[in-house]
Amino acid sequence: MRHLINILDLTVPEIDALIRRADDIMARPGDYWGACARKILATLFFEPSTRTRLSFESAMLSLGGQVLGFSEAASSSAAKGESVADTLAVVSGYADIIAMRHPKEGAPIVGAAHSLVPVINAGDGGHYHPTQTLTDLLTIHHVKGSFSGLTIGLCGDLKFGRTVHSLIGAMSRYENVRFVLISPEELKLPSFVKQEYIKDRGIEYIQSQDLESVLGDLDILYMTRVQRERFFSEEEYLRLRDSYILTPEKLKLARPDLAILHPLPRVNEISTEVDNDPRAVYFRQAHYGKFIRMALILMLLEEAAK
Ligand code: NCD
Repeated sequence: MRHLINILDLTVPEIDALIRRADDIMARPGDYWGACARKILATLFFEPSTRTRLSFESAMLSLGGQVLGFSEAASSSAAKGESVADTLAVVSGYADIIAMRHPKEGAPIVGAAHSLVPVINAGDGGHYHPTQTLTDLLTIHHVKGSFSGLTIGLCGDLKFGRTVHSLIGAMSRYENVRFVLISPEELKLPSFVKQEYIKDRGIEYIQSQDLESVLGDLDILYMTRVQRERFFSEEEYLRLRDSYILTPEKLKLARPDLAILHPLPRVNEISTEVDNDPRAVYFRQAHYGKFIRMALILMLLEEAAK
């Protein structure tokens, strides 16, 4: 059974195929209506979500399939103490494919081991978020045309930001990519990501605490929210949350062809005045999420039918 737990579960040619298919879906949505007729997607969200859950559901409905699920742990039997293993063993009898989000790192691996149907990791704690990365890759493909040769700045909470971890994993497989890691000391990229995806692969990178001094070098700026829910102390969160705020003033230092991405939700880290800058692509990025998830659902259901 094929699952998607880590973005590296997909090969580079498979990612290319998903992007081609997402492009085809956007060009000819009518051709895909009914492609998942009589199929059911379960969305099991033990943590809050807007984009990920709703884009999965919109994706399945647009393929003519149906959806069921829960959007908070409190309304599921997790509140009674049921294990992820048991929940997945049961729900996989009610659905053909499952997207799950959980606050514990590794929960989707446990879930997949007990599931009868494909499981998609829709975010596990401060670990990984592969379908956000597929969304990011589709966006980069559209705005830059290629993944090779890009200098990618990742800014904000690199420690707990699971979207950052998965995006670095994915981008580390393309040629001549450089990473610029911008964070306060306390929120630096964890070594499990830095070692495996950057150092072991001999990829060029720099670390900086200062966004302005590196902004002019970037092809892509990936801004992130400080992940309040993963902090042990509210005081520490309050101290770090406004470390970086992107404003039109700062953007004067950036290249005219910079692309500003953000997985959203945004809190304070991008001023709303930036939204009208042609370099801001984060709302387009959120829309792309539906189409790449359509392509992914089709791929995993096709594989399951083999
Ligand atoms: C991200 C997440 O859940 O990790 N959101 C999303 O899925 N688009 C980013 C975040 O919550 O900051």
